[in-house]
Amino acid sequence: MIEDLFKETWRELEQAPSTPDHPFSLCCLATNDLNGGIKQRLVNFRKLTSQQNLLFYTDSRSAKIDQLQKNDGASVLFYNPVLQLQIFIRGRIVIHNQGKLWDDHRVKIEGRSLQDYNTQYAPGKHIKNPLDVKRTQDLNFALLELKPEVVEYLKLRIEPNRLRALFTKKEGEWEKTFLIP
Ligand SMILES: Cc1cc2nc3c(=O)[nH]c(=O)nc-3n(C[C@H](O)[C@H](O)[C@H](O)COP(=O)(O)O)c2cc1C
Repeated sequence: MIEDLFKETWRELEQAPSTPDHPFSLCCLATNDLNGGIKQRLVNFRKLTSQQNLLFYTDSRSAKIDQLQKNDGASVLFYNPVLQLQIFIRGRIVIHNQGKLWDDHRVKIEGRSLQDYNTQYAPGKHIKNPLDVKRTQDLNFALLELKPEVVEYLKLRIEPNRLRALFTKKEGEWEKTFLIP
């Protein structure tokens, strides 16, 4: 049965980015900030790779890049209200600023999406006038690849569908156990 939960987790993650309005197409990404605290923000989940890594897009000058360069540990949190399913994933993030994987995704950014990566100054810079945002032809695009090490599954329906499980990657293999919900 734990195998079913494990499969459901990856199935939901695989389907989310290409399914309109899938609740897992958005998640909360947490990184370690530079003051010993945690920073969370919503990000669009773009793809689950064939190696079961999670891809996200961001501006290469955003604060999360600095944070990840200092500490590559990160976690994401997903929730599907229909299934009442929460998935927590902790792992390490590789930042891609070049290479084939980066290029495959960079070419997909067009139209209005360009605005997410082409401000003249870095995101987060203080400005007096909110309309005072100049744009350039540059695309400051970074691809984030989260490599999962721990996955926690939680479904808080009525029993017997009140389920919590922990999947831990050890030497390339997933160990699986149920937990008290
Ligand atoms: C619905 C929604 C989707 C978002 N998607 C992304 C995203 O895919 N990538 C991203 O970098 N920021 C995204 N953001 C903005 C982030 O939440 C955050 O404000 C921004 O990345 C700056 O974070 P940082 O300063 O910690 O790097 C999104 C915000 C919202 C509200």
